[in-house]
Amino acid sequence: MNIEKMRSAHKVLSELEFDKKELDRGYANRTLRIDLDSGKMEIRPVTQQMKDLWIGGKGLDLWMMLQEIDKNTKWDSPENTICFSPGPMAGVISFPGSGKTLVTSISPATHSIMDSNVGGFFGPYLKFTGFDGLAIVGKCKKESIIYIDGVNNKVSLEEAPEESIDSHLLAEELTEMYADDEKDKRNISVVSAGRASEHVRMGVLNFSFYDWRRKVARLKQAGRGGIGTVFRNKKLKAIVIRKEGVTPGWSIEESKVASMVVPKDLHQDSCCCKKEQAEEINEIREIISQWNDDPEYVIEMMQDIQDRERCISPEAIEELCSRTGVPKSHLFHIATFYKAFSLEKRGETVIQVCVGTACHVKGAARILDEFERTLDVPKGGTTPDGKYSLEPVACLGACSIAPVVKFGDEILGNVQVKDIEKILKKHGKKGGPEKKTDAENRMGGDNA
Ligand code: FES
Repeated sequence: MNIEKMRSAHKVLSELEFDKKELDRGYANRTLRIDLDSGKMEIRPVTQQMKDLWIGGKGLDLWMMLQEIDKNTKWDSPENTICFSPGPMAGVISFPGSGKTLVTSISPATHSIMDSNVGGFFGPYLKFTGFDGLAIVGKCKKESIIYIDGVNNKVSLEEAPEESIDSHLLAEELTEMYADDEKDKRNISVVSAGRASEHVRMGVLNFSFYDWRRKVARLKQAGRGGIGTVFRNKKLKAIVIRKEGVTPGWSIEESKVASMVVPKDLHQDSCCCKKEQAEEINEIREIISQWNDDPEYVIEMMQDIQDRERCISPEAIEELCSRTGVPKSHLFHIATFYKAFSLEKRGETVIQVCVGTACHVKGAARILDEFERTLDVPKGGTTPDGKYSLEPVACLGACSIAPVVKFGDEILGNVQVKDIEKILKKHGKKGGPEKKTDAENRMGGDNA
């Protein structure tokens, strides 16, 4: 990937500078409209009436759409608009679903207005940059990208002939191109649609987020309605957004609500044995220092702590709060919202049985039952020796090999009930249960 060559081939077609904007109860009170035909960029107001009548990402998208289209607009008409709105709760980590972005356009598949929602960081980053919504009309003459620079407060439309079309490559290239360093890659999100979208009417839009653990730009999809097809029809290669910091949208209200739901008696249920506490606190402090006590990286710190300690203990919450300044209520919200975190100590190996739709129809419930019976632990529980935790989870993202089990870090596909003993035996060699399983007892001895 020759980033310098790609960058030097860019030709700026138009630019717009904008002011920083504080959020007021979840709204920046403005949207951004970009006409790809003329390169004209406009900032438009969001009025109180719009907020009252067209609430949420879906509402604002529709309002923006209806300013642009009429009954004759087809999916491939230049005036067909692609709208992106994250909604007034965007990026408020205390509440579920606040990372979602609604994308709306006239669908090539149904020829009606269609919306699709997607996770990842793009919507919150748009909000933090000071826009409630983004509307894109017209078509580029040559392959182009839009760059929304929330650090220097500038939007530009640029011809970009050299970058890949395929999303998995393009997201990597543009993340590399626009980030200052490895840490800054987390501040970049890229929207794109791959080459296939040029040939089908159901092309998806890919939204990237940088996974600092795997060191790759990963993708989430707005899959409904073929909006990726509209995107490529506009000769748009990508929209790149780069944010600076986190703009609180609801700080006072959020804190009020959050403080009402902090568990009060958690300390009594501490999962940590007293004599291990000093050591654990030192490890937690070390992790927080690695992230420079920066509150922006509190989720990353919690991921590291969960990995190392197998739980987010009250001591960890105390340390995180005092070192980063993030309120305990927020920390509890994060720890209880994401399945990756646990307030109670997990087993050395976490067994996740997918019970999502594809796995469910292929017998996931029987697999879960069999694990419960064989390990003698209820779902959601941990074996008394602390070796295994058993968790039902929703889609693990490998539906084509359903039913799926994640055993520690290993993904196992096409799992059948009769495989479970073998799986436990294979992994049991590395610290599995020493007592015989129910299944082994039933069989009257060790299996060879
Ligand atoms: S539903 Fe189980 S992996 Fe998708």
